[in-house]
Formats: sequence, structure tokens, C-alpha cells
Amino acid sequence: MPGAILEQESMEQLISRFEGLCNELTQRSLTCPDAQRQQALNTAQKLVRKLQSPNEFGTAQSWAPLEIVGAAIACDLDIPNTIAAHNGPIQLKEIAEKTPSAAEVLVMRIVRFLAGHGMIDQLDEEVYVANDLTRDYATDVRRAQIFKMLYCLPSYAALPAFLRETGYRDSSDPKNCAWQKGLQTTDTFWQWLDKRPMEANWFNTLMTAARSANDDSLAKTYPFSKLFAGAQHDDVLFVDVGGGYGQQCINIRASFPKDHGRVVLQDLESVVKGRELADVEVQAYDMFEEQPIKGAKAYYLRGICHDHSDEVCRRFLARVKAAMTEDSRILIHERLVADINPTDLVTKSDFMMMAQFAAMERSYKQIKTLLESVGFKVGDQYRLGVNEWSIVEATV
Ligand SMILES: C[S@@+](CC[C@H](N)C(=O)[O-])C[C@H]1O[C@@H](n2cnc3c(N)ncnc32)[C@H](O)[C@@H]1O
Repeated sequence: MPGAILEQESMEQLISRFEGLCNELTQRSLTCPDAQRQQALNTAQKLVRKLQSPNEFGTAQSWAPLEIVGAAIACDLDIPNTIAAHNGPIQLKEIAEKTPSAAEVLVMRIVRFLAGHGMIDQLDEEVYVANDLTRDYATDVRRAQIFKMLYCLPSYAALPAFLRETGYRDSSDPKNCAWQKGLQTTDTFWQWLDKRPMEANWFNTLMTAARSANDDSLAKTYPFSKLFAGAQHDDVLFVDVGGGYGQQCINIRASFPKDHGRVVLQDLESVVKGRELADVEVQAYDMFEEQPIKGAKAYYLRGICHDHSDEVCRRFLARVKAAMTEDSRILIHERLVADINPTDLVTKSDFMMMAQFAAMERSYKQIKTLLESVGFKVGDQYRLGVNEWSIVEATV
């Protein structure tokens, strides 16, 4: 029916209306609740996937490692910082002048790369201005993420050959995984890091922000008020086992000041040495040894189990269990793999864990089975909105 087709919106009209909608969504996303912003983002990502041809998808995927390479070179030369620090538009010539250690043509190519990836805005030929990504790539945390990814890349590249050569067994030995093959080392990831302060600092800095740190999302995710109710000043409320630089201890202290009870940060000596945090006890501790804090209200482990195979997890989980009383809770905070439609991010992270540690990301069922194998009684899982990061609670 030609009449009906004429009445239909043309593709041009549809695209124009779509662009209007995109502009409106972009504006509103600045102020709407984060769950709504994420919902819009998921919809947009699904649309991108549907519009992409398989060739476009495949090419984008196979070229993706170069995104890290380009970003790392730019960060190494402080180019995002230079552009972000400039108040307003900046000429290519000035960026090159402020980057004297690199050839002018190389600076041009890096700046072109940043513009090509939306990491700076281009206003005119050779004129650029910082955007939100430029400012983000000028921060210590993002730089740490890029540099950490770069030094881990050889282990990811070695994973296919490692699996092929070892007969596609599900390895659980952190001393014999793609990490050793890729990095040409006999050390585990942690031993390797222990000998390299710069790489360790990148790792630990990344952890301070990797999962929405410095906000009150932790206190909102789990009913700590209920758990801590009735605690005395000398009671230990919260032990953060493998807590890195103490990001979650700081967050818990913001919600539960000193008079509520004690908060303890535990991590390897090389990580916590010299670290001082207001109203937080800092303890060098190897989690495979006896847990020195007995009967705390909460033993909190975020992103710890995913660094280890079940076999290895059982060893440190048993140490926590032995220190717990009936009133204690162990809180396992992990990015859980959904049973249906897991996200690309969590499945990528799963392969990251496989390569670096012979470890894995787990579903709620897998965490539950793991905890039960150590003798825990597993309770509910708690999460904030659409966040994949969930706290699984268990008792002795
Ligand atoms: C993936 S990071 C997670 C850090 C922190 N829990 C967070 O979520 O931001 C793993 C942490 O486990 C610590 N770790 C590794 N082996 C450990 C051990 N044997 N004893 C105590 N901590 C350990 C690391 O130093 C690191 O801080």
C-alpha cells in the first residue's frame, strides 16, 4: 500500500527524531537517578549492537587492545593533564610545546587518537578542548587502571596458548597459569607485585576507586546498622580482610563514627606499611594465617574470592570462620555473574581472573556452594539497584 508507506516516517525523519531524543537523554542523564542512566545506557548499547554489522563488531573487538596502548602513551606523556589543565581551547602547537619529550609529529598522532576516540573534543583543525573523559584520564585512578591493564596484557595474550597446551583443564594453581607464561616469571601475581612498588601502587590506587568508593553505597547496600546495634565501644564492628588502601574502612567510618566500635583494615605488609587512617586500626596480616581479630561483627571481603580458585578460597575462608562467633557475619562482596544474560563486563573479568590467578568470577550459586563447603550457613544477597556488586552474607 503506497499510501501507508508515504504516511510512515522516512528514515531521515526517524534519525532526526532519534538525535533529538539522544540530546534530551544526555541532558537528563546528568541529573536523573543512576539506575535510570544505566537503563538508558543498556538500551543504547543494545541498539549499537543491533546496528553494527558482524564485520563492524569483529573489527571493533579485535582492535580494542590498541585503545589501551594509545591511552597509555597519552597518559605517559601527561597529554590528558596538559589539555585538561588548559582553561578552554588549546592549539595542537601548544600541546606539543608542553610535551617536549616527544616529537611533534608523535604528539599530533596521539592527539588525533584521543580525538578519534572521543577522549577530547575537536573544535577546529588543530584546536582541541578537554571533555569529561580528558579530565578523567588526567586522574591518578584512571592512569593507574590503564597502566595496570598494560602490564597484565601479556597474561591475557598468553591465555589461549596456555589453555591449549594444558589440555583445557580448569586450572586452580596460581603458580601455574597464564600469568607465568605471559610475564615470563615463576612468581604468582601477588609475589610479582610485591617486588614492584610502582606496579603495586597502580594496582592499589585502582582498587580505591574501582567500585564506587568514597560514597555511602556500602552502608546502603547492607543493613550494617542492624548488625552493629548494641555493640560496645571496644567491640570490633568491621574487619576489612585484604582491604587494600582502606577505601571501604573509610566509607564505613563515614557512616559509623568512632563511638560505634572499632574498624580494622588488614592487608599484606607491603600494602599497608606506613598507612594511617583516621579512626581505623591498620594491621599487616596474611589471610592464610590465623585471623587475629576474634568475634568481630563483620568480616568483609570485597573482590578477594574472585582472585582465587575454590581450593585456595577455602584456606582463607576457614581462617575467618575459626575467628567468628554466632553473632558474626562474613560478608563476601563480589561482582556476581547472573545466571541468565550475564554482562560483558563480568564475563571479561572472569577471563581476567583466569589469566592472572587461575581464579574466577562466580554466580550467587557458586559463592553459596563455596561457602557451604567450608561449613558456613549462607543467607541473603544484598545489592544496590542494578549494580552487579552484591554482598553475600553467611554465619557459622
Ligand atoms: C582485588 S584486591 C581488592 C582490594 C579491596 N578489598 C577492594 O575491594 O578494593 C585484593 C586485595 O587482596 C590483598 N591480598 C592478596 N593476598 C593477600 C594475603 N595473602 N593476605 C592479605 N591480603 C591479601 C591484596 O593486597 C589486595 O589489596
